[in-house]
Amino acid sequence: MTSTLFRTKKVEQSILDTEEPEHALKKSLSALDLTVFGVGVIIGTGIFVYTGSVAKTTSGPAIALSFVAAGIVCALAALCYAEFASTVPVAGSAYTFSYASIGELPAWIIGWDLVLEFALGTAVVAVGWSGYFRSFLSNNIGWNIPEVLGGRDGASGFGFDIFASLLVLVLTAVLVVGMKLSARVTQVVVAIKLVVVLIVIIAGAFIVNTANYHPFIPPSEPAASTSAIKAPLIQLMFGWAPSNFGVMGIFTGASIVFFAFIGFDVVATAAEETRNPQRDMPRGIIGSLLICTLLYVAVSIVVTGMEKYTNLSVQAPLAQAFKATGHPAYAGIISFGATIGLITVCMILLLGQTRVFFAMSRDGLLPRFFSHTHPRYRTPYRPTILLGVIIAVIAGFTSLETLGELVNIGTLFAFIIVAISVVILRRTRPDLHRAFRTPWVPVVPILSVCASLWLMLNLPTETWIRFAIWMAIGFVVYFAYGRSHSRLGRQEETTRDDVLGGHEHHDRKKP
Ligand code: ALA
Repeated sequence: MTSTLFRTKKVEQSILDTEEPEHALKKSLSALDLTVFGVGVIIGTGIFVYTGSVAKTTSGPAIALSFVAAGIVCALAALCYAEFASTVPVAGSAYTFSYASIGELPAWIIGWDLVLEFALGTAVVAVGWSGYFRSFLSNNIGWNIPEVLGGRDGASGFGFDIFASLLVLVLTAVLVVGMKLSARVTQVVVAIKLVVVLIVIIAGAFIVNTANYHPFIPPSEPAASTSAIKAPLIQLMFGWAPSNFGVMGIFTGASIVFFAFIGFDVVATAAEETRNPQRDMPRGIIGSLLICTLLYVAVSIVVTGMEKYTNLSVQAPLAQAFKATGHPAYAGIISFGATIGLITVCMILLLGQTRVFFAMSRDGLLPRFFSHTHPRYRTPYRPTILLGVIIAVIAGFTSLETLGELVNIGTLFAFIIVAISVVILRRTRPDLHRAFRTPWVPVVPILSVCASLWLMLNLPTETWIRFAIWMAIGFVVYFAYGRSHSRLGRQEETTRDDVLGGHEHHDRKKP
C-alpha cells in the first residue's frame, strides 16, 4: 500500500506523455512571452487593493518591509521552481514535479492544493476587478448598478457580483479558443498595467510628504477582534495576545501581501507550451519575480508617503491617494489601468488552473475525459469550460478577504512541497539534465521551506482550519477515485501481470 502511494512517475514518461498527439499542447511560447505572462499575472489585486488595507490595519508604512519579506520567501521558492520547471517541462507545475520525485499521493495533494489556489485566486481577482469596474462606471458614466448585482461585500442580504461572474465566463471562452490569442491580449494589457504602476511611482514621488513615514513601524496595538481563531496561528501557539502593527505586524502583513506575488509559479504551468523550456523557464520565472518585487516596494513606499497610512482607502488605495492629494486626473488613469490590468491576472490564473486539472486528468487521477485537447484549437477545452463555469459562480458569491488568505496558505504549502522535491529529485535522479540548478542545495530548499512555513504560521487559525477541511476532501476523492484509476498504477499492474502471468498467457495462446 505504502509503495503505491509513493509510486513516482518517471520524468521521461512525463515528457513522453506530452507528445501523444491527442493529449498534446501547442509549443508556442518564448522567454519574453513567459515574462510577460508572469508580470501579467503577478501585478494585480495584491498591489492595487491589499496595499491600502494592510498598511492601514496591519503594518503601517512598514508595509514596504512586508513586501520585502514576502518577496524573499518567493525568491527562495522561485529558485526551486526554476530547477524543476527546467527539468520536467510538462504542464501541471508543482503537481508534475512532485509526481516525478516524491510520489503519487503527495502529487495528488499538491494538485488538489493548486486547484484551490488558482480557482479561488481567479475568483478573488475577478471580484477585485469588478469593484474597480463599478467605480469606473460610476465615476465616468454615472451609472450605478443595483446593489443586489454588486456582489456580497456591499450587499445587505442576497448579493451576486454579476460583473465578476461575466468576466470569468468571457475569459473562459478566450482560453478555449487558444493560447496564442491570449498571449497577444496579455502583452497589450501588461503594457497598460506597467505604465499605470510607473505613473504611481514617478508622479507619486513628487507628492510624498516625509512626515507620513513617522512612525515607520507603528507600535504594536491590541487587535480589534476578540476571537482567537481570527488571530495568526503563531500568536495562538505562543499564547500572545492578538495584536496588529509592531515588528510582528510586518510579518502578518507579509502573509497577506504575499497574494501580490502569486503568479510566478503559474509561469511554470506553461512549461509544456514553451518552445525551449530548459532555457526560457528559469528566465521567465525569476525575471518576472524580480521586476514585480522592485515595483511593489517602490509603490508601497510612495503611497504611504503620499497619504498617512491611517487615512488610506481599503478599496482603491492607489487611485484614492492621488485624489486625496488633489490630483484627480491621475486617479482616473489609475482606476482605468487597474480595471484593464486585473483582467490578465484573472485570465492567467484561470489558465494555470485548467492546465493543472488537465495534467491530473491525463494521469488518470481525475477522469480522462478532461484531458482530450480540442481537435482544432489544441486547448484542454473540457476542464477549461467546466472550471470556468464553477469559478464564475464562486466569483458571483465571493467575499474577498477570507478567500485571499486561503489562496495564500495553499500556495505556501505548494512551495514547501516543491522545495522538498528538489532535494529528493537530486538524490533519486542525479543523472537528469538540469538547465537551471538551484544554488547551494540543500541549503536554499531548506531555507525556502522554513520561510514559507513562517508566513503560513502568520495566517489566521481559521484559515488553517479551512485549508485542513479542503485537504481532507481531497484525500477522500483520491482514495475513492484517483488511486484506482491512476494511469501509472494501471501501467504497473499490466507490467506485473505480464511478468507473473506471462507463462500462462503464452500457453493459452497455443492452439
Ligand atoms: N498576484 C496576483 C494579484 O495580486 C494574484 O492579484
